[in-house]
Amino acid sequence: MYQPDVTKRLQALTQQVLGQLLSGTPVSALGVEDLRSILRFHEYRYYLLNDPLISDAEYDQLYNDLVRLEKENPELITPDSPTQRVAKGLGNDFQKVQHLVPMLSLENSYNEDDLRDWDRKAKEATGLTSVVYCVEPKFDGAGISLIYENDRLVRAATRGDGTEGEDITTNIRQIHSIPLSAAFGEMGIRQIEIRGEVLMTKEKFIAFNQKLAEENLPPLANPRNAASGTLRLKDPKEVAKRNLEAFVYHIGYLNTEENNKAPLSHSAALEMLWLLGFRSPEKEKKVFNGIEGVIQYCLEFEAKRDTLPYEIDGMVIKVNDLVLQEKMGMTTHHPRWAIAYKFKARQATSSLRSVEFQVGRTGAVTPVAKIDPVPIGGVTVSSISLHNEDFIREKNLLIGDRVLVERAGDVIPYIVKSFPELRTGSENKIVFPTACPVCNDPLYKSAEEAVWRCVNINCKAQVIERIIHFNSKDAMDIRGLGESHVQKFNALGFLNDIPSIYQLPYDTIAELDGYGKKSVDNLKLAIEASKSQPLYRLIYAMGIRFVGEATSKTLAHSVNHILELKEKTEEELMQLEDIGPKVAASIRSFFGIEDNINMLKALEAQGVCLENKQKEKPKDGNLTGLSFLFTGTLPTLKRNDAEAMVEAQGGKILGSVSTKLNYLVVGEDAGSKLEKAKKLPTIKIISEAEFLKLIAPES
Ligand code: IVH
Repeated sequence: MYQPDVTKRLQALTQQVLGQLLSGTPVSALGVEDLRSILRFHEYRYYLLNDPLISDAEYDQLYNDLVRLEKENPELITPDSPTQRVAKGLGNDFQKVQHLVPMLSLENSYNEDDLRDWDRKAKEATGLTSVVYCVEPKFDGAGISLIYENDRLVRAATRGDGTEGEDITTNIRQIHSIPLSAAFGEMGIRQIEIRGEVLMTKEKFIAFNQKLAEENLPPLANPRNAASGTLRLKDPKEVAKRNLEAFVYHIGYLNTEENNKAPLSHSAALEMLWLLGFRSPEKEKKVFNGIEGVIQYCLEFEAKRDTLPYEIDGMVIKVNDLVLQEKMGMTTHHPRWAIAYKFKARQATSSLRSVEFQVGRTGAVTPVAKIDPVPIGGVTVSSISLHNEDFIREKNLLIGDRVLVERAGDVIPYIVKSFPELRTGSENKIVFPTACPVCNDPLYKSAEEAVWRCVNINCKAQVIERIIHFNSKDAMDIRGLGESHVQKFNALGFLNDIPSIYQLPYDTIAELDGYGKKSVDNLKLAIEASKSQPLYRLIYAMGIRFVGEATSKTLAHSVNHILELKEKTEEELMQLEDIGPKVAASIRSFFGIEDNINMLKALEAQGVCLENKQKEKPKDGNLTGLSFLFTGTLPTLKRNDAEAMVEAQGGKILGSVSTKLNYLVVGEDAGSKLEKAKKLPTIKIISEAEFLKLIAPES
């Protein structure tokens, strides 16, 4: 734990040392303890808080300087130096477990010459004139270890400090690309430890950050943080919802029978894992004799990294022959038979010119930095969200500062840090407004939040944002009434609140520049169609805080008409699936406001459907009249998808095992529900495969 003053001191010291390294002055033997403290601090920020204050490349610079210093002065090495063990100190929430074999890091290289130097050393160590290498992507996620015994996944752990990780087996079981069992026995393998990386795809990451933004929570910096944060969640159901993926790339330990068929090369190991149902980089890997082909392949991948669905931050080059790997051995930090080729960081420096304050749908005021436009990875960045006041304070930002910008996760530009050592004295403090920049009402901040809010529900900025949200794709899906149109129609006085969407003066609009009869007809059609959207979309479109799509579905399911929600107490709401006190209070508060009820009534008067039509008329299909419940982890289907399949076929999902239940669909690790169902003879207990046959009997 670092107190704020220590954090500040270590961050200032970091900047000083990085400045020295930049100007070519390495740290002297006298500064070795400072350097270690700095590295420990940044490991803590990175591994424990998932909130690094410096970039990976800067960490590497500091780390490499410590390695150099200790190499030149071996008497300075202490057992607790970060070069001897990586990032100590994990949270206490998960059980700590010892790795069967230490989970080491990788040595880094940054250019072709580094790779050629490393190839020279590999040739020396193996005594060969040319070494065969296997090259594969370096996945930018959270490292994991998986242990299978007698074909079953028995333990999954985080990397932790390399020797000791955290037991995250339950969370790992939620990831569909990790098999819960695999036929290792057929290969003569009794026990195996597999290493890999858990990832969040770029697409899922963008959607995840959008959801956070809807809840006025600051977005995560990159998919790596999202993946490692998710693995440490207490609620496995929440982990399942985030749809993580995993690649495996290394066998850490093997316990085999005699005459086993265990692989003899790394590429064969990747192939074996692939054939056993794991997601290994089987398709991405390539084997080369000598380093030149390796270099070309690394450059090729670097050029196409943006086209991949997930983040990679480099390539990993491994000596392919496992006997040679054994011969080359390892240091306390990394294996000598592998090296990472790190891609150029997608970072740039710029100057912070000003800060604008934007008001969102729920009144949250977000500071947005305006910087001198800089190209980063093919995109020009000029605006960057600073999230809230705490973020500005923590990053120690002043107007006029030079700042380091990263386009993390490919999409979201992020300020990594400022350079206080470059200040001239002409920089200015960022002053947070005390009044709303749009309606001038005073801003408020609650004790438990970092954001300031405008609480004037009629604030024009909020009204516009609410209309934009109402129209959006996942809400009422009114195409042709996106942000720019809403702004324009609002400025012209046509759109002042949500019900006015249904009273647009189409004839006047048809006369406007840029609008023809055709586009107005299309707009009219889209608006008319939205009147019969299912109830859950209307609930979601209301933009109630903490009520996302899933909660909207739960709420819609529980009523025949939206105004019935007005009558529900917080206790009643909390009996519904996935609704806790915070969400229940927010729903109550929304339906307790007279203006909101009047708005809904006005929508109804315009012909918008406020009823749960689906509830009245269950769909007809193969499962009409039948009820289902899922328990345990299904081999291929996600729980939500399976439930949606039941509903689409006219079936019903029940919340518990009772005599009303027709089918219990059982996956891995089914618990008390299965036991209870076994005692009720009318319930049919079936597997996922049998369920799929019920859904589509002909296939
Ligand atoms: S091999 C004993 N292969 O990068 C060697 N690691 O920066 C084990 N990583 O700790 C590592 N992709 O978490 C290997 N294809 C890959 C990788 C990979 C990502 C991670 C891994 C490692 C870290 C080092």
